[in-house]
Amino acid sequence: MADRLNLHLSFNGGRIELDLDPRTTLLDALREHTLLTGTKKGCDQGQCGACTVHVDGLRVLSCLTLAAQVEGREVTTIEGLTQPDGTLHAVQAAFVEFDAFQCGYCTPGQIMSAVACIREGHTGSDEDIREYMSGNLCRCGAYPHIVTAVRTAAARLQGSKV
Ligand code: FES
Ligand code: FES
Repeated sequence: MADRLNLHLSFNGGRIELDLDPRTTLLDALREHTLLTGTKKGCDQGQCGACTVHVDGLRVLSCLTLAAQVEGREVTTIEGLTQPDGTLHAVQAAFVEFDAFQCGYCTPGQIMSAVACIREGHTGSDEDIREYMSGNLCRCGAYPHIVTAVRTAAARLQGSKV
C-alpha cells in the first residue's frame, strides 16, 4: 500500500488537494488537515453521530468513512450550511431560536442529521423525528428542544429546496 495518497477533495464547494495516509478518515481529514473543525469527534467508532456530514447530499458518519472514499464526491459540513454572507440555514437558526443545545458538542452532527431528515421526508411527526435522529446522541439531554427545532424548521422549509 502507498505510504501517502494524493487526494483531490471537494469540501463545501471548494477544492482541496491533500497528501494523506491512506487510513485517514474523512473526520480526521476535515479536522486535522483543513480548518473545518466544526465537525466533532465524539466516540470515533460510529456510535454517537457527532461527526455527521453529508456526502453528495446524504448523511454519513465521517469517523467511519475514509477520506479516499469521497474523492470526486461533494462533502458538506456544518460550515457549508451557512451562506457566504453569514446567514444561517433555517435548521441552524431554529436550533438557536429554540435553545436546542447546552454544551453544543453534539450540535453540528444533530444539525447535519436534521437537514438530511427533512430532505428525506422523515419529519411527519415528533415520533418520526426522534426515530430518524436516533443515531445522534446528546449527553446534555437537549432532545425535546431538538425535536421542536427540527419540526419548526421542517415546516418553514416546506416546498423549498433544503
Ligand atoms: S465520532 Fe463518529 S459516530 Fe461518534
Ligand atoms: S448539547 Fe451537549 S451533548 Fe448535546
